[in-house]
Parts: sequence; structure tokens; C-alpha cells
Amino acid sequence: MDFFALLANGGPTGESPSIFDSASPAADSIGNLSVLVLAVAGLIFLVVEGILFYCVFRFRRRGQDAAEPPQVYGSKSIEIAWTAAPALIVFFLMLVITRTLWEVEVDPPNPQAGDQTLFVTVVGRQWWWEYRYEYYDGRKLGFVTANELHIPASAEGAARRTYLRLESADVCHSFWVPRLAGKTDLIPGQTNQMWLEARGPGVYVGQCAEYCGTQHAGMLLRVIAEERADFERWLEHEAQPAADLLSAQSARETFLAQSCVNCHRVRGTPAQGGYAPELTHLMARKTLASGVSENNRQNLDRWVGDPQSIKPGCLMPDFKLSDTDRDRIVEYLLTLE
Ligand code: CUA
Repeated sequence: MDFFALLANGGPTGESPSIFDSASPAADSIGNLSVLVLAVAGLIFLVVEGILFYCVFRFRRRGQDAAEPPQVYGSKSIEIAWTAAPALIVFFLMLVITRTLWEVEVDPPNPQAGDQTLFVTVVGRQWWWEYRYEYYDGRKLGFVTANELHIPASAEGAARRTYLRLESADVCHSFWVPRLAGKTDLIPGQTNQMWLEARGPGVYVGQCAEYCGTQHAGMLLRVIAEERADFERWLEHEAQPAADLLSAQSARETFLAQSCVNCHRVRGTPAQGGYAPELTHLMARKTLASGVSENNRQNLDRWVGDPQSIKPGCLMPDFKLSDTDRDRIVEYLLTLE
């Protein structure tokens, strides 16, 4: 199997996080640069090791009284050659890197009606991602969601970009979805920018790429790129307040009476905490706890009862809920579609 194809097919879920399987213009540039640098470095490695092995073999000691080889002290032409050649190689790589930076670093435009461009503010938190949807197609959005970022996919002849403003609420994190773009850090007190573009629909996975504490490895990224119509349907749904089913009335009251509401927000209810992941449309997400486990009844039940058993060190404590309260809270959460 081809080396790069092998690297590109990692991951048990079939969702590749490989830079060699790029799906966006920015990731193409970075992938090409990586291959080029790897090739240049590989060539230098082969030349240096080749000369080394040749010399070791050719000039190895033969017998007791072999003659000492001629001793050379300084050679102007060799010194010029081994100064000029690396300088040229470094200069060439610098030019290519500058071109890549030029391609990858794009300032965000102003939102405009009809641009099909999405603007999202990403806030890195220990240990999950908050997404504030700002504008799409020139329209102001203003809702918040967590951990699974939905974006519109590009189609033939229609490039749809997503511009991210990156902030942090606590420590440094780094946003990295290898198939879509390079890494960009989220730094407290500073705003960084990056942009994504997915060539086609699909789930693009990534990972926080800057050590940020105990659950750094449990700060996974999922970018869901959808066809325009699907994305706009999702957007419409996500902007709505939470479902308010009559049948879930008492389960809802149990939820609202607990400490959950101090940290979590459910739009359309008194739960307005802004510290933990937004739950308004929790069941529209495939995963829990920033990609750590699948979002289903069983895992929700475990999470509400003892979050530390799923994500040790996470900032949600075990509230020692009674079995009844726990059941009713899960019952309520399951209605938040
Ligand atoms: Cu966030 Cu590492």
C-alpha cells in the first residue's frame, strides 16, 4: 500500500485525521509543503548516510600495518560548497513556506448578504469547545452550541468558507482539524483567526493540539460539513429555543431545581448558566463530553450520575443525585432534540 494512503487511513471510525488526506485548499497547501520538506530532508538524509556508509566501508581498517591515509587540513572549495548548498536549500524552503503562509492566512471579509459564508467564535474551555454562531449569509445568528461544529460544505463552483475567531476562557488550547486547516492557538486575552473550507460533506475530526490540562486528550473536535440545504435546516433548528413538551413537564422541573442550571444553558428556560456546554439541542449531537463518548441514553445516564467515570478530571462534579432525580433529568435531556 502507498505510504501516504497508509498514513491517511488511520482511525478506528474511518474518520481520518491525516494531513495527507486534505479536504480543503488550506490543508492542500500545508500537505504539499509537508511532502516537499519531507522529500528534501529525505534526500539530504540519503546523501549524508550514503557518504558515511561509503567511507566507513571504503576506509575501514585492513590488517595491522595499514598505511595511515593522507591528513587534510582545510579545503576552501569544500568549505564553500558545504556552506552554499545548505544556504540555498534553506532559502528555497523559505520561499515555499512564505507562499504557503500567504495561501493559508486570509483575513476575514465582512459578512454580506448572499455570501454563504459562516462566522463563528470558538471559545476553548477546559475541556470542551464553545461555538458562538455569529453570521451566516450576511444574517446575524447569535446562538451558542458546543463541541460539534456544523459548517456548510463547498460544492462545484461554490466555495463556502467558515471564518473562526478563536478565544480562550482559561488556558491555551489549539484548534486542529488536520484535513481542513492547520493548527491555530486559542490564547487567553487574545483573539486569533482562521478559516475552514470543506470540499465536500462529511465529518472531519480533530483534537486540541496544545496541552491544556488533565483532559487535553479528551478535547476532541468534530466538524460536520453539510450540503447547503442540510446545513441551513440545521441552522434554523439550532436557533430555536429548546423543545417544551407537555409530557416532559415534571422531568423539566426536576432538572431546573438542580444545580445543573448554574452552569448549563437551555434556551427558553430559566437555565442560563454560561459556564458549561449549552444543552438547548443536546440530542442533536452525536457525542458527549467533547467527543469522548457516544450520545445515547445509557451514556447520558452514566454522565449525569458520575461524569468522572467517563471523563476523569472534568469540571462537572458528581452531584450525588437520587436515582429518581437522575432518571428524570436524563428523561428531560432526551427531549432536547
Ligand atoms: Cu485544550 Cu489541549
